[in-house]
Amino acid sequence: MCSNLGHKNQAMIDSISRQAQDLAFISPAFTCKVRAEVADKLLEVVPKGLEKFFFATSGTEANEAAFKIARAYTGKYKIISRYRSYHGSTAGTIGATGDLRRWSVEPSGKTEGILFAPDCYCYRCPFGQQYPACGTTCATYLDYMLTHEKNVAAVIVEPIVGTNGILVPTDDYLVKIREITRRHGVLLIADEVMSAWGRTGEWFAVDHWKVVPDILTTAKGVTGAYVPLGVTVTTREIADYFEDHTFSHGHTYEAHPLTLAPALTAIDEYRRLNLIENARELGAHLGRRLNELKERHPSVGDVRGLGLFWAVELVKNRGSKQPFNTMDDKFAGRPLIMDTLTKEMMDRGVYVMGWISHMVLAPPLVVTKDDLELGLKALDEVLAIADKHCS
Ligand SMILES: Cc1ncc(COP(=O)(O)O)c(C=O)c1O
Repeated sequence: MCSNLGHKNQAMIDSISRQAQDLAFISPAFTCKVRAEVADKLLEVVPKGLEKFFFATSGTEANEAAFKIARAYTGKYKIISRYRSYHGSTAGTIGATGDLRRWSVEPSGKTEGILFAPDCYCYRCPFGQQYPACGTTCATYLDYMLTHEKNVAAVIVEPIVGTNGILVPTDDYLVKIREITRRHGVLLIADEVMSAWGRTGEWFAVDHWKVVPDILTTAKGVTGAYVPLGVTVTTREIADYFEDHTFSHGHTYEAHPLTLAPALTAIDEYRRLNLIENARELGAHLGRRLNELKERHPSVGDVRGLGLFWAVELVKNRGSKQPFNTMDDKFAGRPLIMDTLTKEMMDRGVYVMGWISHMVLAPPLVVTKDDLELGLKALDEVLAIADKHCS
């Protein structure tokens, strides 16, 4: 889900080597040509209204910067996240992570001031309801939370949840939480570390709903993972606050020129190779084919996704939706059926990420229909193994 441009893209390799010859490193206290160029180029693709960038070297750091910006700008400290989420591995970002990776840092991790809102997860709705009759309760509950909480700086969401299930929200969800956060004077942070850069068939997942957050973070596909770059982008209004106030944050490798030059080239390559369109078109094909597999395999409870970003959620029993394994199983290190299945996929030459009860299908955006068919054939065989464990 980060090697969007595939391996051995010559333009990417050349841009790294050119930048190494030109200027490999400069103190982040200075600006440099490539830093200005990359900011200009990013402005062409990020949602309109987001204008100023902070460059780090990972998605985790991009989110840490977002939290610090939100807290300093609002003078408040609470962050609302959601349970089905991953936001990074440092104390702050793991504290704001909803999934089991947070459990091992509690209670010593930086989890104070973090609250969790309900997920927009229709297959297993936390309120046991059905869309659209539900009125998108998962969004309106945020209004209820913000009415009862003081000192909330920001709400952070993955617009389309990644590792925790490729949860594509209902059509009105993000629009609603944008309205609710604005009304309560709370910043909205979109964590697009995984969902950006054409992955879902748009430059950014928020583009599907034309929602502009106050802060957007990204990493991975920004350089097609050729070099480690994390980006935090804010509105001009938030950025201007820091003209007169200290932004107490930074890294030696902040805005490292070697990480910036490939981002310039990556944007050109996404355009030259029509990768966003490819994700849209092949994504629709992938979705159709996965739904066919669902028809044939009782172990498939749900398939969902957008662009080249799909999940296949497995169940022991379709009626009860009982999963094969639980978060507790993973936390305790018990063997998971999913591990067997991803191993079987690997044996057939196809890498997919398994996460407790679902597989994440996120091929490089340079994938072809034939490549997809190869993966689907392996998946068809492997799901037959899962079917045998159904009850
Ligand atoms: C949504 C999301 N946020 C943050 C991160 C952390 O990014 P990194 O691993 O680059 O620190 C990830 C990593 O997978 C992610 O998927």
